[in-house]
Amino acid sequence: MGEDELGALEEAHLARMTGGSALTAAEAEGDERAVEAALRPRSLDEVVGQSRVREQLGLVLEAARMRDKPPDHVLLSGPPGLGKTTLAMIIAHEMGSPLRLTSGPAITHAGDLAAILSGLNEGDVLFVDEIHRMSRPAEEMLYMAMEDFRVDVIIGKGPGATAIPLEIPPFTLVGATTRAGLLPGPLRDRFGFTARLEFYEPDELDQILRRSSGLLGVDLAVDGSAEIASRSRGTPRIANRLLRRVRDYAQVRADGVVTHDISRRALDLYEVDELGLDRLDRGVVDVLCRRFGGGPVGVSTIAVAVGEERETVEEVAEPFLVRIGFLARTPRGRVATAAAWRHLGLVPPASSMPEAVEDAPGTTADAPAAAPTLFED
Ligand SMILES: Nc1ncnc2c1ncn2[C@@H]1O[C@H](COP(=O)(O)OP(=O)(O)OP(=O)(O)O)[C@@H](O)[C@H]1O
Ligand SMILES: [Mg+2]
Repeated sequence: MGEDELGALEEAHLARMTGGSALTAAEAEGDERAVEAALRPRSLDEVVGQSRVREQLGLVLEAARMRDKPPDHVLLSGPPGLGKTTLAMIIAHEMGSPLRLTSGPAITHAGDLAAILSGLNEGDVLFVDEIHRMSRPAEEMLYMAMEDFRVDVIIGKGPGATAIPLEIPPFTLVGATTRAGLLPGPLRDRFGFTARLEFYEPDELDQILRRSSGLLGVDLAVDGSAEIASRSRGTPRIANRLLRRVRDYAQVRADGVVTHDISRRALDLYEVDELGLDRLDRGVVDVLCRRFGGGPVGVSTIAVAVGEERETVEEVAEPFLVRIGFLARTPRGRVATAAAWRHLGLVPPASSMPEAVEDAPGTTADAPAAAPTLFED
């Protein structure tokens, strides 16, 4: 797989995920792809944060190496920019295997998948990004391939159709999804290991920023790094992106050194607030509080009101708003908490939720498969 291929895939994905929100979409272009590739950790040891996932995955890979067998299939889930693609590349790298790359939306027919699978060699790592967007017939073919390393290729239609069995050499499937809750049970069950990536703590983002500044040759002061880290929405991709924007500011308006003061001024200019909320995040909170009295309101309604795709609101904005306790997902719709009201400088109504409890059932981004049906629209 070439970096170009990966870059193009990521760009398309990013553009869709961010659907034009200022901070994010504007930069999902050639330059950013190259920078992201340069900043990607290459081995598990270089990965910052996600300590539990790192240890668990390390064990899975080590054991497979000892047995001289391809590791079990791995599912990586979590919001955009937390390191799913990075980890997929690391899995292949650590196993010394080639990485084959595709994505759910690219597999529209079972035949597309059959072609990919039949081209695999023993031990290859097949990375399927956005695996929850694969077509149903392809998904069913994948079940069989994952379990029995075999697929049935159907030739012809109707009563005359015949199934030709096709053996596939043992391979490792790495699936990535921003919505594990949307994966059908049978598919989820066939992964031997599921890693759920969490948002990063500011000190972890701080480490990532210091590593990136070294690689990019940015003169980053300690307090400058801390300031950028605290406004990066818990997301390495955003941290790296803000670092580049703040560097621009430092070069044009100052002496090039990224200090605390420069970071503050630059990030204010780019409309990234103290909590790291960008225009889309603030739009969601604003609509929820000012227009709908704090909710409950359906996510589709919020999406229309902020002029975004429903998916973007659900996959990009919501997980972080839930994480910082600004928004709760309830069976009747989305609800703003008192903290969200206060962030807008408003007085929370007496009826508003004091604080969303993180990880309470139904409040997480990756709710169990059955849960989404409980929600409105
Ligand atoms: N743990 C980490 N340590 C250091 N840098 C990281 C880490 N995770 C991610 N990054 C950086 O963030 C960038 C984005 O990560 P990545 O592309 O893997 O995210 P993703 O989860 O695949 O996002 P998407 O859902 O949009 O595809 C990478 O280029 C990398 O530089
Ligand atoms: Mg990715």
